[in-house]
Amino acid sequence: MEKKVIVLTGASGALGTHIAKYLENQGHFLVLQYNKHSIENANPNVLTVACDLTNPEDLKSLVDQTIARFGRIDVLINNAGISKSNVSWKTTTEEWNQTMAINLNAPFFLSQAVIPSMRANAFGRIINITSVVAQTGFIGTSAYAASKAGLIGLTKTLSKELAKFQISVNAIALGYFNTGMIDDVPAEVQAELLKQVPMNKLGNPETLAKTIEFLISDEAGFVTGQTVNLNGGLYS
Ligand SMILES: NC(=O)c1ccc[n+]([C@@H]2O[C@H](COP(=O)([O-])OP(=O)(O)OC[C@H]3O[C@@H](n4cnc5c(N)ncnc54)[C@H](OP(=O)(O)O)[C@@H]3O)[C@@H](O)[C@H]2O)c1
Repeated sequence: MEKKVIVLTGASGALGTHIAKYLENQGHFLVLQYNKHSIENANPNVLTVACDLTNPEDLKSLVDQTIARFGRIDVLINNAGISKSNVSWKTTTEEWNQTMAINLNAPFFLSQAVIPSMRANAFGRIINITSVVAQTGFIGTSAYAASKAGLIGLTKTLSKELAKFQISVNAIALGYFNTGMIDDVPAEVQAELLKQVPMNKLGNPETLAKTIEFLISDEAGFVTGQTVNLNGGLYS
């Protein structure tokens, strides 16, 4: 099973775009989920699906469309995420709930929905994209940090539940990368962040794509329940 059927959420985002291109170049069968920014792709091995991850019917449709087109699901990459900056005492109920819905609830319900196909094939890879702020905390990110920390706990429990079916579940915790959410951070704050990174540089999407390439490979079948840190030494 060299070429995998891969569902990638947040494929329209900055990091998602890089991951999708990398995996497409390797000839995998891709299902690319987007929400507000549509994705055009004429490759017959690629299906693009509009899906609001806060909507349970959309989640079901994403999985149903994948099975209808490719017959199975080998890999789920929960990459979509939002970050609403606010100190805890100003975070609204709506901000909290929306963050949890997209960053934590959707990965859980999507995982639940892909498990039957993965179990039937005795093969599966679930990858949850989390963040260093879940590990360290960071002012103004209470909802985001809580949702991403939840993903790490979810990863550990799912990995234990699914190991006997040869389904691995891992998280990748990103430090500060050179594209995507970082674009919303003011330049002077970015400069301050950089000073905290021992390697004194931002992450490159290529590092993320290569890490995913390894985790979805057959050779990585003994790796599960882990949080792989890509952060230039910021946290270990
Ligand atoms: N970039 C970094 O430095 C960094 C650091 C740590 C962790 N991360 C994590 O890496 C992942 C990707 O981040 P990024 O930087 O690529 O972010 P991004 O460019 O803002 O992309 C976010 C993605 O999430 C999708 N999305 C947002 N709300 C959605 C909803 N309701 N339903 C479905 N999809 C929705 C967006 O779809 P549309 O655009 O189509 O609406 C987009 O594809 C996130 O989980 C983030 O937390 C990033």
